[in-house]
Amino acid sequence: MTRLPDLLPSGTTAVPVACVSAAGWAAIREGLSQRHQAYCAAVDFAPKAGRIVLLPGEDGRVARVLFGLGEPGGDRLVAGKLPGLLPPGAYRFDDGQDAGFDAAEAALAWLLGSYRFTRYRQAPLSPRLVAPDGVDAAEIVRIASAVAMGRDLVNTPANDLGPAEIEAAARLLAECHGAAVAVTKGEALARDFPMIHAVGMASPRAPRLIDLTWGDDGAPLVILVGKGVAFDTGGLDIKPSAGMLLMKKDMGGAAAALAAADMVMASGLPVRLRLLIPAVENAVSGNAFRPGDVLRSRAGLSVEIGNTDAEGRLILADALALADSETPDLLIDFATLTGAARVALGPDLPAFFTEDDSLAEAVMASAKAAIDPVWRMPLHAPYASLLESKVADLNNVSGGPFAGAITAALFLRRFAPKTKAHIHFDLYGWNPTTKPGRPEGGEVQTARLVFDLIKRRWPKWA
Ligand code: BES
Ligand code: MN
Ligand code: ZN
Repeated sequence: MTRLPDLLPSGTTAVPVACVSAAGWAAIREGLSQRHQAYCAAVDFAPKAGRIVLLPGEDGRVARVLFGLGEPGGDRLVAGKLPGLLPPGAYRFDDGQDAGFDAAEAALAWLLGSYRFTRYRQAPLSPRLVAPDGVDAAEIVRIASAVAMGRDLVNTPANDLGPAEIEAAARLLAECHGAAVAVTKGEALARDFPMIHAVGMASPRAPRLIDLTWGDDGAPLVILVGKGVAFDTGGLDIKPSAGMLLMKKDMGGAAAALAAADMVMASGLPVRLRLLIPAVENAVSGNAFRPGDVLRSRAGLSVEIGNTDAEGRLILADALALADSETPDLLIDFATLTGAARVALGPDLPAFFTEDDSLAEAVMASAKAAIDPVWRMPLHAPYASLLESKVADLNNVSGGPFAGAITAALFLRRFAPKTKAHIHFDLYGWNPTTKPGRPEGGEVQTARLVFDLIKRRWPKWA
C-alpha cells in the first residue's frame, strides 16, 4: 500500500530549498554566487508559481534548489509540486526564507503532493522532506496520513472495496485509536434502518450501518456521518456509462468522515466522537428497490422513491435520525450527494449547508486556515415543497430540474430536525487533474477543515 507520509528528523543532512516569492527574489538572488546567478539567468529562472531551478555545486551534485512561490494570494499548496519535480533524496526548506513563505503549510503541501496510489502498481521513489524547525511536524504528519488513508479508500475500485471493506477500514482505525465499533446488518438493519437496507439489499455484498465510538463520556458529543456507497450504478434508474464510470468514489463522504475521525482521535481532542457510516452498494437485481416504492424510514416518515439514483440521501436519512436522537453538540455529514452541487461549484469547491449562521462563519474560517475551501449554499425552506409526494410524507427527489443540491440538503434536514448545529457537506471527492498537493484521483475534501473546526471549538488545553 501507500508509503505512510512522514518527515525526516530535523537536523538530517539535506539539500536546501529556497522558496522564492516575486517580492523576495531580488534579495535571494543577491545572496547567490556569481556562477549561480549566471546559471539562473541562463535557464531563465523567474520566481513564478511552481518554477524550479536546481543549482549544481562544485562536485556536480545538487547544492541548492530555488522554487517559485508566485504572487501573494496564489495557491497556498504550491509547494505540493516539489515532490513531483525533485529527484529522490533528502531536502529541507532553507533557513531565512522570504516573507511569503509558511513552513507548516509548505510541509503539509509537500506531504499531500507526495501521495501516490500504489495498491496495484509501485510508484518510483519520491524525495523526502526534513521536518522544518518551529512547526508541529507530528500534527502535519497526522493530517497527511489521514488524507492518504482516505484517498486510498476512494481510489480502491469497488471490486476490492465493498461494504465489508469499508467496515474493515473503520475497524482498523478503531484499533489504532482504542475506539469501539458496532455494526448493524441483516434483519436488525431491515428493522432499525429500513432505508439503508432497502438501498443495499440488491447487492450480494450486504448493507450495514457502521457505528464507531471514541472518547470520554463527559466530553461534548460530535457525530460524523459519511455516505458509504461502495458503488453507485444508479439502481433500476441506471446511470449511463459516462455517469457510472467514477462511481467507485461514491463512498467519498465516508472517506472524508473516516479521515476527519482519524485526525481527531490521533491528536486526542477532548470530544466524544461518534462516526456513523451507512455502507451499501446501489446495485441492480431482481430484488432491487424500485421507482414508485414507498419506504418507511427510521424516523417514521414514509418516503416515495421518485428515483433510485437518489440513494445517498436515503441511507444518510436513517443514520441522521439516529444521530439526531443522541442530541449531539455538533453533527456533520459528508456525502458525494448530487451532480447539481458540482454543476454549481465545480469539483474543487464542496458545498456546505447549515441553518446556523455563526457555525457557517466558523466553517469559512476553518476552511481558510486548513486550506480546504468550501462554499455555503442556502437551505431555502420554500423549496421543500418540491419534495412533496401524493402518497407518502415526502418524495426522495424533486420532479424538476431546479436546485438539486438544495432539495437534497432539505431532504436530509427532515430527518435531523432537532439538531441545529448541523453541517451538511456535498462534495465531489475527486481531483479531475493534478494540481499542487492534489494528485489526480480520489480526494479527501473537508476533513482538514472539520478537524480545524473541532480543534478550535474544543481546544486541547482549555
Ligand atoms: N452519487 C451521485 C451524485 C454524484 C454524481 C456525485 C456525480 C458526484 C458526481 C448520487 O447518488 C446521484 O446519483 N444523484 C443524482 C440525484 C438525482 C437522481 C436527483 C444526481 O445528482 O444526478
Ligand atoms: Mn445515485
Ligand atoms: Zn450516489
